[in-house]
Parts: sequence; structure tokens; C-alpha cells
Amino acid sequence: MLLPLKTGKTKIMTDNPNKLAVITGPTSGIGLAFAHKLAQKGYHLLLIGRSKDKLEHTSQLLIDEYNITVNYLVADLSNENDILTIEESLKRLENIELLINNAGFGIAGFFMEISLEEQLKMLNVHIASTIRFSKAVLPAMIRQRNGYIINLASFAAFMELPGSVMYSTTKAAIIKFSQTLQAEISKYGIKVQALSPGFTPTAFHASIKREAEFVDRVPWFLWTPIQKVVDTSLARLNNKDVICIPGSFNNLLFWINKVPVLSKLIQYIAAKRQKEQAGYTAVIAHKSIQKTAAAAR
Ligand SMILES: NC(=O)c1ccc[n+]([C@@H]2O[C@H](COP(=O)([O-])OP(=O)(O)OC[C@H]3O[C@@H](n4cnc5c(N)ncnc54)[C@H](OP(=O)(O)O)[C@@H]3O)[C@@H](O)[C@H]2O)c1
Repeated sequence: MLLPLKTGKTKIMTDNPNKLAVITGPTSGIGLAFAHKLAQKGYHLLLIGRSKDKLEHTSQLLIDEYNITVNYLVADLSNENDILTIEESLKRLENIELLINNAGFGIAGFFMEISLEEQLKMLNVHIASTIRFSKAVLPAMIRQRNGYIINLASFAAFMELPGSVMYSTTKAAIIKFSQTLQAEISKYGIKVQALSPGFTPTAFHASIKREAEFVDRVPWFLWTPIQKVVDTSLARLNNKDVICIPGSFNNLLFWINKVPVLSKLIQYIAAKRQKEQAGYTAVIAHKSIQKTAAAAR
């Protein structure tokens, strides 16, 4: 929930003393790398995450290293009330230049195996928070005739991967949301980016059950370093393209995946590895659903 803001030392390093960036999920991986990069550029930061301890630790590191102001708000973005509370706080920001909707998580497993509750949490973390926070900051950006919104999508958005139904669905929604929003608001000088990384070495994969073993087998050329993801995103922020795919191999894969036979092959491999890792629980779940349906008849 919303906690009193923690404020660090204020010493302006930029030519614009009011430059503020808001980052969700800044406590590890891509969000943390964005926080460091933006702090280095002299942005003041408002960090939004679910762990007070991690936020406090991250804020202190950034304050000590970069002489900027760092505030934080604690919120579990899978919880609708927390999202609404943060939305109200963001509406009050006058000087926001950049919003990064980065918080996210993965679930491994077939659609029919995973509890609906867990899957619907993803709608809140990936979509509801992104939509509400974007709408909350846009009035200030429109007034300033300046602003950037980076929404973390994923390369998975371009694929139909068995075992990744809600992840691919929510990330694809983020891409469409970003593209359509951009079409409406570019006249105000605001840029929206749908950042779509492929495999990036963060805590993301370890936190997904079943992923650990699979991730060890992903070849090196499919990985993009975290720093490259962040640098590519910021370097392309003023491009006209909404979708930003870091890494040259991922860009090639984007086109390969458009060839139907190759995208089917990728789907086949994804389904195979899900079955291997799940011990065919999806098939069992499917059979039990059939049995329940038969008993009900
Ligand atoms: N890593 C990849 O290969 C990859 C590829 C494509 C896209 N992405 C996307 O990139 C984004 C960042 O992921 P990452 O790779 O940097 O993973 P990460 O290291 O696991 O970081 C995820 C961040 O999101 C936060 N978060 C997760 N669930 C949350 C919730 N319910 N409420 C508030 N914060 C929450 C985490 O907080 P805690 O520290 O408290 O857990 C953490 O700060 C995600 O949207 C992910 O889908 C990642």
C-alpha cells in the first residue's frame, strides 16, 4: 500500500531540474537497470514496487551513487486496490517526463493447468496497471507537450507459444495498446514505446517454475544483455517505431517467425518442452476435465 515517501538528497545534475521518471518493478533486472541509467542521466526517480525492503535498499543505493532524489511507493500491482492508489498518486505529478511500465512476471504451464486466479493476476500487473498509469500521467505530459511512456512487452507477444497463453496474450495487448495510443497522442509530442526483449538474463526466469532447466539450454545467441535492452530502448525513444526489439538476432527471429512453417516449428518445440517439464500434467488435467464433464452428464 501507499507509504510515506522516502526522499533522498536533492542535487540537480541535469539542465532540467524537474525531470522525473517513474518506474514500476525497479527492484531487479530491466527495471533496476533503467533506474541506474536514468539516475546517471540526472533524472529524479519515483519507484513503484511490492517489497518495501527492496525499494528502500534500491533507493538508498541510487541516492548514494547519483545524488538525485528518489521516492518510492509500495504496491502489489496484482491487487486492483493498490493499482488505484498508485493511479491517484500519479495523477498529482506535475513534472513527469518518463513513465516505464516494467513490472511483470511469467507463469509456465498450460492454460488448463494453471489456476485462473493466478492467470488473472497477470491482467492486473501487465495490463490494468499499464493502462491506468498511462492515463494518469498523460494530462501532465499533454500540458508539457513532452513525455515518454515505455511499456514492457516481450518477444513472446509475436508468438503463439503453448505454455504461455496469458503471458503472450497480455504482452500482445501491451503492444496494441502502445501502438494505438501513440496514434492518438503523437500530436502532443509524446512518444510511446512497446519494448519487446527476447531472453534477457534477469531474475524473471528463475522465478518461473519449470523455467530453470529449460533456460540452461537456451543458446547464447538468443540472450540479450540487460544493459543492451535498456540502452537500445533509450536510444530509440525518439524513433517513429513504437515496437522496439533489442538485439539483432531477435530482429531476425521476428521475420523468421512470420513464415508459417517456421512459426509452427517454434510452437511445436515450445509445446514439447512444456510437456517434458510438466510430466504431461496437462494431458492428465484434460482427462480429468473430460471425466468430470462425463460424470455431470
Ligand atoms: N527477462 C526476460 O527474458 C524478459 C523478456 C521479455 C520481457 N520481459 C519483461 O520485462 C519486464 C521486467 O522483467 P525482468 O526480466 O527484469 O524480471 P525481474 O528481474 O523478475 O523483475 C521484475 C520486476 O517486476 C516486479 N514485480 C513482479 N510482480 C509484481 C507485482 N505483483 N507488483 C509489483 N511489482 C511486481 C518485481 O518485483 P520483486 O523484486 O518484488 O519481485 C521486479 O521488480 C517484465 O514485464 C517482463 O515480462 C522480460
